[in-house]
Amino acid sequence: MQPQASEKVGIAKEKLGVFISTYGCQMNVNDTERMFTLLEMSNYVPVTSPEQASLIIINSCSVREKPVHKVHSEVGRYRKLKAVNKSLKIGVTGCVAQQEKKKLMDDMDLIDFVVGTDAIDELPQIVARLRESDEKQIDAKFRHQEAYQVDTLVRNPGVSTFVNITKGCDNFCTFCVVPFTRGRERSRKYSELVDDVKRLVDRGVKEVYLLGQNVNSYQSECGVNFAHLLKGIALETDIERIRYTTSHPKDFNQELVDIMQEYREKICEYIHLPVQSGNSEVLERMNRGYTREEYIEKANMILETIPGAVLSTDIIVGFPGETEQQFEDTMSLLDEVPYESLYAFKYSARPFTKAARWEDHLSESEKSERLNRLFAKHKEIAFPMAKKYEQKTLAVLVEEVKEGRAFGRSTQNKSVHFATSEDLVGQTVKVCIEEAFPQTLRGSLVQ
Ligand code: SAH
Ligand code: SF4
Ligand code: F3S
Repeated sequence: MQPQASEKVGIAKEKLGVFISTYGCQMNVNDTERMFTLLEMSNYVPVTSPEQASLIIINSCSVREKPVHKVHSEVGRYRKLKAVNKSLKIGVTGCVAQQEKKKLMDDMDLIDFVVGTDAIDELPQIVARLRESDEKQIDAKFRHQEAYQVDTLVRNPGVSTFVNITKGCDNFCTFCVVPFTRGRERSRKYSELVDDVKRLVDRGVKEVYLLGQNVNSYQSECGVNFAHLLKGIALETDIERIRYTTSHPKDFNQELVDIMQEYREKICEYIHLPVQSGNSEVLERMNRGYTREEYIEKANMILETIPGAVLSTDIIVGFPGETEQQFEDTMSLLDEVPYESLYAFKYSARPFTKAARWEDHLSESEKSERLNRLFAKHKEIAFPMAKKYEQKTLAVLVEEVKEGRAFGRSTQNKSVHFATSEDLVGQTVKVCIEEAFPQTLRGSLVQ
């Protein structure tokens, strides 16, 4: 008789292996951790390859490019495994699950269950029902009416941990599927969030990364806004560092930057501020709620209030109807705002969105050509910006030490490497930067 996959890797017999593949943003990464934690409490054990698993979950993302196709092709790769392992169950979670719902199972018989973005906490029960009844399961209902209560669930929190502060999005940018896959915006209670961070600190966490689609519209039940949430976490907990993402430029205000500056000992000076386009007409058609000029004004406000603040952005090229001149406005924005990192994407039509229904779509080759030009321009600008860190001393929170090399992040969100023989994980150390590369900085420990 062939040994079971679980025996090969020495997993206790009664435990079942679970493999999760994760696509998309930090929210999905955080949701995957949540699923692992919940499943570990119900007799599953994480495994590192699909061959070892009795449960495979694809935690999907729908934000760009053929996401449904990606899910189908990954599930297809498991056909052989399912043929030899009759107890193997395959499920889809995340934004494609929310978007496609039952259709995923109708189109692909290998899929046993579909769990939407609001139903993650039901996962253990859903999987248990599936095993008991052998009937396919689906829960893709939004829970708009329920309070948003999600204490962070993380197995080994390590040095830095994600903490959800809001879910969903009510902005309905005309290109974006997220309001349809994550539902209406809800904020967690202020007191629950502070307690959550305190518990993480007790478990050794040094840095929390606050997450939301638009963190700036955080609004607690007792009227606390995002700026005051940051201040509250800085004052009421012993967390060493606070980061957050993503900010929406329309809601970014002076109060927030003032609080960041006042509590800069704890709140990192790195701000991801997605602009999407440098042309005001395109921004209006995107429904972003700000003009080029207003955006530049906010970027300047940040740079003036927080000395040394670091900005990064997201840009979409080839939005429907984008002319060459309008694209040039995006190119020239790079001369006005010193973005140290740039995440740029070709526009991709998404289901349910307004822009997908418009007729003036650009060809793939036009979009690719613009994307290449934008990256080439940013490359020219970014390297000299990285070089300015050479000979500077940065505060680095060490995340990993391996074979005499330490890796960590500076408050500016720079990846920093240096040599050390000590186990400095979890400590914030001073590192003098010797050489800057486009993505990372190399330095040496300042004693
Ligand atoms: N809430 C964040 C963005 C989440 S999606 C915000 O408002 O900035 C992450 C990024 O994906 C977006 O900033 C955008 O640049 C990109 N994106 C979203 N929808 C897209 C689409 N249809 N085509 C191409 N890029 C898209
Ligand atoms: Fe999408 Fe806009 Fe919401 Fe960001 S703010 S998630 S881009 S709809
Ligand atoms: Fe993708 Fe959903 Fe995040 S669409 S980017 S996983 S919110």
